[in-house]
Amino acid sequence: MQNRGMVEVRRLEADETRRAAAALGEVLADAVAGGDSIGFMDGFSAEEGRAFYESVLPELERGTRVLLAAYDGGDLVGTVQLVHAWPPNQPHRADVTKLLVHRRARRRGVARALMERLEAEAAAEGKTVLVLDTVPGRAAERLYERLGWTRVGVIPGFALDPDGSECDTAVFYKRL
Ligand SMILES: CC(C)(COP(=O)(O)OP(=O)(O)OC[C@H]1O[C@@H](n2cnc3c(N)ncnc32)[C@H](O)[C@@H]1OP(=O)(O)O)[C@@H](O)C(=O)NCCC(=O)NCCS
Repeated sequence: MQNRGMVEVRRLEADETRRAAAALGEVLADAVAGGDSIGFMDGFSAEEGRAFYESVLPELERGTRVLLAAYDGGDLVGTVQLVHAWPPNQPHRADVTKLLVHRRARRRGVARALMERLEAEAAAEGKTVLVLDTVPGRAAERLYERLGWTRVGVIPGFALDPDGSECDTAVFYKRL
């Protein structure tokens, strides 16, 4: 457990994630509604968001995925996940995915608190190489640079924004 001002970051096991799935789904749907490229398209509902979080429960149960949630006075305002690489020759590597902070809670250090805790969880699990990607020129890119991640390069036209327009992705890594 970690506190940063009013924000508390917790690692949620599968049972807790099941109970928090609706709140997590709302944070995900809010990010899509805000135009962020995080896997889903315009019209994505909080209910679909809940289904997404329920879909990762088996991996949480197996221990191949870690999910963190940030709470502001009991209110779930942010989340991030660590996904272990599956190949047997990458036992030391994991991907960071779905870092999300609800628009009402941004610019208060929530994402920074989530990432610092996630890196600590990754290190505790023996992970020494973390990888992620994000749309260049947006808030998250600045955050990762500030947290000491190394930018590898940009893949043009990698994904779509929720409105269907193409966006690039910048690939980052960090050695722990
Ligand atoms: C990216 C995101 C997670 C940042 O969350 P946040 O809680 O607002 O970030 P923090 O308050 O912890 O900011 C930490 C640092 O990141 C950078 N940063 C965050 N938001 C920024 C913005 N809008 N513009 C510029 N820099 C920004 C700053 O360097 C900031 O430090 P500072 O406030 O001391 O200047 C949030 O904007 C979000 O959920 N975006 C949509 C989803 C997304 O893009 N996720 C990443 C997918 S890879």
